[in-house]
Amino acid sequence: MTIIPVHAAGCRYDVVVGPLANAGRRLRELARGRPVPAVTDERVWALHGAVLADLLPVEPVFVPEGEAAKAWDQLRRLIAWLAELNLDRASPVLAFGGGSVGDLTGLAASLFKRGCPVVHVPTTLLAQVDSAVGGKTAIDAEDQKNLVGSFHQPALVLADVALLDTLDERQLRAGYAEVVKYALIGQDLRFDWLEDHGPAILSGDRLMREETVSQCITAKARLVEADPEDRTGVRALLNFGHTFGHAIESAAGLGTVLHGEAVAVGMALAFDFSAELGLCPHADAERVRRHLREAGLPTTLADTGVDRGALLPLMGADKKNEGGSLRLVLTRGIGDAFVARDVDPGRLADFLARAA
Ligand code: GLY
Repeated sequence: MTIIPVHAAGCRYDVVVGPLANAGRRLRELARGRPVPAVTDERVWALHGAVLADLLPVEPVFVPEGEAAKAWDQLRRLIAWLAELNLDRASPVLAFGGGSVGDLTGLAASLFKRGCPVVHVPTTLLAQVDSAVGGKTAIDAEDQKNLVGSFHQPALVLADVALLDTLDERQLRAGYAEVVKYALIGQDLRFDWLEDHGPAILSGDRLMREETVSQCITAKARLVEADPEDRTGVRALLNFGHTFGHAIESAAGLGTVLHGEAVAVGMALAFDFSAELGLCPHADAERVRRHLREAGLPTTLADTGVDRGALLPLMGADKKNEGGSLRLVLTRGIGDAFVARDVDPGRLADFLARAA
């Protein structure tokens, strides 16, 4: 078991990487004798609800699987449910599922009575290595990914890699894209290590998964601590591939291309664009694309079937932009990403029109 403390925005919380069954005491302390409302989906509950219910009394509420959970009507439903339970501001809500469940639950928790604690128990690789840590919450709105959200740091995160054993292949591979991201931005994981060990991580080696999840969370904790609200450009590194990726998700129709799949394409495009600008070796771009492909991920716009003409306006609406200038995380090579301000929209449009 690994415990990674996070200090962010005046909060301190632990991310526990290890068996959920060992975390019962922590959960019961937070619950203070009351049943804990747990937001989840039917599939996750059927597979893993019993493990949670063995630890403490939980009251599940079900939301749709995947991106469909991140919607105004689901947010309204959750708030109404918390009101009906008459939850007090000190009582936690538990997010038991993938990134969408976590994003929605975090947002509801940040709003309910001006904020109540949220505990994340992520059940996908993507949520364990990225979205459950760091306090970003969101729903989609106006056909745009994560348009409405808040920062609300969790009270506790419990990442048990045993929960990944039942994850379907596509979801697992999508989560792996976020693992690769850490290596590409030069945080904790080495790309050549992933080239060697990626197949073991994907095929279910628990020790390897636990080590990988711990390394990703350690990296994320450091970046979140340095820039909790994504203002200075430090945390923005975690968005490598995401400006392209979010635009791809929105252009494809939210929920069509998985977040991690869109990020995989986005990272490949960020490398291609950087290489075209003379910032990074073409050989690095090719090496990254090869690894993502070998991991079974899409790496080209053609793979996603999106209308490439729709991408630039969506990228122009990205939250990283300021004062009308376009900001993108680009790269000087594997492990050397940086925030590029004032990206020339003409050059980007030209790139997008021709990109693979
Ligand atoms: N997923 C990027 C971040 O949390 O900042």
